[in-house]
Amino acid sequence: MFYMPARVFSGNDAIKDHAEALTSLGRRALIVMGGGSARKNGSFFDVVEVLENADVEFECFEGIKENPTVESVMEARDFGLENGCDFVIGIGGGSAMDAAKAISLMMKHSDETWEYLYDKEAPSDMLPLAEIPTTCGTGSEATAVSVLTRTELNTKKSSVHKLFPTVSFVDGKYLKTAPKSILNNTAMDALAHMVEGSIHRKATEYTRMCAAHGLELWKSCKPILLGEKVPEDEDLQKMMDVSTMAGMTIAQTGTTIPHGLSYPITIGCGIPHGKCVSYFQAEFIRAMEKEDRDWILSRAGFSDPDELNDFFVKVCNPEKIPSEFRERAYEELKSNPSKLSAVPYEITNEILKRISGI
Ligand SMILES: [Fe+2]
Repeated sequence: MFYMPARVFSGNDAIKDHAEALTSLGRRALIVMGGGSARKNGSFFDVVEVLENADVEFECFEGIKENPTVESVMEARDFGLENGCDFVIGIGGGSAMDAAKAISLMMKHSDETWEYLYDKEAPSDMLPLAEIPTTCGTGSEATAVSVLTRTELNTKKSSVHKLFPTVSFVDGKYLKTAPKSILNNTAMDALAHMVEGSIHRKATEYTRMCAAHGLELWKSCKPILLGEKVPEDEDLQKMMDVSTMAGMTIAQTGTTIPHGLSYPITIGCGIPHGKCVSYFQAEFIRAMEKEDRDWILSRAGFSDPDELNDFFVKVCNPEKIPSEFRERAYEELKSNPSKLSAVPYEITNEILKRISGI
């Protein structure tokens, strides 16, 4: 099965050109954003313009932080309910978009406590949700995943619910004002989604179709990440589309070992998500069967895993991860059968240690 029910509008002025797809979602929107980037890149003003033109009211919940916490989701939920909002718009990177999904769910289930996010037996129905990415890695606009920080556990845990947006607007111009480090880190996250998704046990010809084309497009953007080319409008749109295609891939498969290893390190060391998953990618690829390794590397334009790692070092400038965090990540992953069993090869402790870098 390939199931990705979100309508995706891609291209310049996607919101303005398809305004009705946004304004038909409700009468009063809760706009969920991070810091000031949604104003800086213009996405917020595009949304406001189409809402005002259609007399749709809105309230803003600003300040969703990186790696959003369950507590912040509940705070936004209460704010949305108090203000009578009947649909949600998430604008930003993965943090704002993932939070918006959980907020939509919890607003629909207004009497429930935060534990609902992790209740496998409970229904996943949510308020209508629009997602507008302003970075190029998470793919959250095309996935059902909402990764949240569990403060009491000191790590990140996805909600168990399948939370697909109703509609997503994928417009490359919102990347124009993104800092280069965010562009690079998030583009490496998109690469990780295609790498991990394409060998996943749940991979099919259809997911490989998304990953294969996404990898080819990703390869053509490498000079931008290296700083050798100033991106033009079509390059930025391409980077945004890669991210969405990579999202479509993992929406079917899920992620595997590098993502699993990254979570406690991102929280413990404050290393951005896309950069953090990339530490483990080269050894992960090396552990694959040759056919899979070649399939990925040839499309991404690398001759071997070392070349991919050199590229990562150049574009992300990674700091050293203290060994105790690598060890903790290894131990945590060893006890997480879902991430390990998603890999169709035997992953011995020795191989896992090598991937973890310990
Ligand atoms: Fe990711």
